[in-house]
This record gives sequence, structure tokens and C-alpha cells, in this order.
Amino acid sequence: MRYQIAPLFCRPWTLLGFERKLIESHYENNYGGAFARLNEISQELAALDPATTAPHVIRRLKQDEAAALNSLALHELYFASLGGDGRAIGEVMTNALARDFGSVDRWRSEFVALANSLDGGSGWVLLTWLPRAGRLINQSVCEGSQAIAGGITILALDMYEHAYHIDFGPNHISYVATFMRNIDWSAVQGRYEDAIEVKPPRPLEQKQFADVPSITVDEVKAMLDSGTPVQIIDTRPRHTSSRSPDMMEAAVWRDPDRVDEWMGELDKSAPVVAFCVYGFHVGCQAVAALRKAGFDARYMAGGHFAWKAIKGPVKIFDSTTR
Ligand SMILES: [Fe+2]
Repeated sequence: MRYQIAPLFCRPWTLLGFERKLIESHYENNYGGAFARLNEISQELAALDPATTAPHVIRRLKQDEAAALNSLALHELYFASLGGDGRAIGEVMTNALARDFGSVDRWRSEFVALANSLDGGSGWVLLTWLPRAGRLINQSVCEGSQAIAGGITILALDMYEHAYHIDFGPNHISYVATFMRNIDWSAVQGRYEDAIEVKPPRPLEQKQFADVPSITVDEVKAMLDSGTPVQIIDTRPRHTSSRSPDMMEAAVWRDPDRVDEWMGELDKSAPVVAFCVYGFHVGCQAVAALRKAGFDARYMAGGHFAWKAIKGPVKIFDSTTR
């Protein structure tokens, strides 16, 4: 396939502190160069036979393809980030930046500090929406680092020397300040509004237990840390003890095959959290039985291993009680 070139998004004669020559050279030579490279690589890849091509050739071509694709996409975002007065930040972006950074000023100072931290080195500084976290984040992408997978960039600052040297020489600090004074916030807001429409990655779904409520390991940890009374039951199958030397510190182990026998020990006035190895059937079944009997029970999503993954406290596994 052949990639298409995009027209220059900003109007160079409206920019304050940037000469037209700089923007024209940047668009023609650097953006245009990435575009030409990408199509050459794309043709090369289409023409080769992956089964007979040397591995290092495929690896290099795919690395170059990714670099050229990033360059193309980020240059388009860079040019589309310019053209405003840098000041008129509408309510939507003001609220979004305040929510995720504390305030617009805090966001701005982090973004600028990140740009200046590259110290004249090559790279990009990006404001990116993360659907999986439901928040904006500043990131830099330079030699040895990558754009965040699944992130959607809404503002891009090009920190490669070719982006400013014609006008600013080695003075990247002045360049960054000039960029900030030319941000087109209405365009950024448009991209933000598109980005937040993207759904986060699909969560684990267990349709047969859709009506059994769960609780996250972080929520359980917060309950324990705050001293909230909670009865925690490790319902991993008995044979687990031979495979796993430890268990959640705050839990007692009970045999999932004998729920009816031990549920009488529990207090109906305090919540119950049960879990199994990974948070699938066994824990859910135990919780369903407890709820049927009138307990305020929830299963801990991710089970024993999610607790271990957040480095929750554990103790030696003890299955002698039941
Ligand atoms: Fe560039």
C-alpha cells in the first residue's frame, strides 16, 4: 500500500516567532523525508519473501517502518498543534488538565521541563490520552524509548534540532517557549474529544458469574489498611498447598468443596471477600453460595496471584484448619 501525504495543518504566516522558512523546510524536508522513506520501506517489505529473507533484513525493515510511521504521525500532530495563541484554553481542556495534573500551570511546567530535560537532544514531547487509565499523561519519546502502546497523542512538540535550529540556533529553551505561545488549543480540544471516545481495553468477563460482585485487590488492601472489618477467605482448592507455599496474610483458608460446613462461622454483619488462585470459577462459586445464604460476599478479582502481583503481604500457607 502507498501512504498519503497530509497537507500542512498550520498557516505558517500566522505563527508568532517562527519564520515561514523554518516551517516550510521542516514540512518539505523532514516530514517529506519520512513520507518518502515510509513508502520505500513499504514497497521493499511487500516485495520480499519473509520465508527466505535473512532475519536481520526483516528486523531492520520493520524497525525502520515503525520509525518512519511515528515520524509521519508525530509531524502531522506537531503541525496541527500550532496556529493558536497558546493562551485561550477552553473549559474542556482546562478541566481535563486540572483533573490529571492538578492545574493547567502544573501541566505546563511539567511539559516544558520535560522538553528542556532533553537538553537539545533529539526527541518528541507529547501530551497523550491513555484509554486504559482514563487520563492524560506527558511523555517524551527519544532514542531508546517508545510511544506508549494504546496511547492517543493530542499535542506534539518536535525537539529534533531541525525543528528549531534555523530560527533559534542551539537555544532550545527559547524554541520551547515559542512553541507554547503558538499552541492551538481548540484543535487540541478537538483531538481530546475524539480520543476520550476510544474505549479502554476490554476487561476480563465471566458471563456465568456476571451477577456475582467483585472487588479489586487494591480495594481489599485499602480496607485492610484502614482497619475496616472484613472476613477474607482463601478458597483455593486443597491441592493448591502442594504448589503454593504462601497465602494472603489476612486470609484464612477454607475448603471450597465444603462451603456449607464453614459458612456458619462467618459474621453476616461484616463483608466477606473470597478468592481462588486466579479469580475464576472456584472463588466465584464460593461467593455465589455465600450470597445465596445472605452474606455480603464478593470475590477478589485476579485472586491469589493479583494479590501477590501488588506485593500484598503473605504468610506461610496453612490448610490444616479445615
Ligand atoms: Fe521534525
